[in-house]
Amino acid sequence: MITQLVYTSSATFDPASDAGSRHIGAILETARRFNSQAGINGFLLIGADWFAQVLEGEAAVITSLFRRILFDHRHSDVRLIETRPVREPMFADWAMGCTMEPLYGLTLTPLIEPSHGLRLDLPFDRILACALREAESLRQRSA
Ligand SMILES: Cc1cc2nc3c(=O)[nH]c(=O)nc-3n(C[C@H](O)[C@H](O)[C@H](O)COP(=O)(O)O)c2cc1C
Repeated sequence: MITQLVYTSSATFDPASDAGSRHIGAILETARRFNSQAGINGFLLIGADWFAQVLEGEAAVITSLFRRILFDHRHSDVRLIETRPVREPMFADWAMGCTMEPLYGLTLTPLIEPSHGLRLDLPFDRILACALREAESLRQRSA
């Protein structure tokens, strides 16, 4: 069994700005380097001003990574949605896959309430389904 953890947070920068894309590049570089060494997989959804991330791996490794992520100043209001045991990673191809909705114009409609932005009380399954769908669409575009 491995652990799957999902959280949401608010970005403390504008992901679509030049500085924002540098921050995102740095986050992904750190994430991919560490995660591939530590046997962590996952997917990061980036919206206009929010993040939703799925992390999966060995329970103790996920807990200590999440503790570091919690204190990262590049986001705030980090809300743990849920952790669950799963038999196999669902994002086995990704050290950290990523979709930047404002930059690539991909639609994350199921996660967005029309007038309220990201719903922070979203259920685990909705975020997971959205990340799986985005991962599949990236896979098809790169094939
Ligand atoms: C939205 C977001 C997602 C992140 N995802 C990861 C990740 O998957 N893996 C990782 O090692 N760091 C990730 N980070 C970076 C960590 O918060 C932290 O900067 C990194 O683990 C280095 O920690 P340290 O400076 O305490 O060594 C993420 C940061 C943010 C803001």
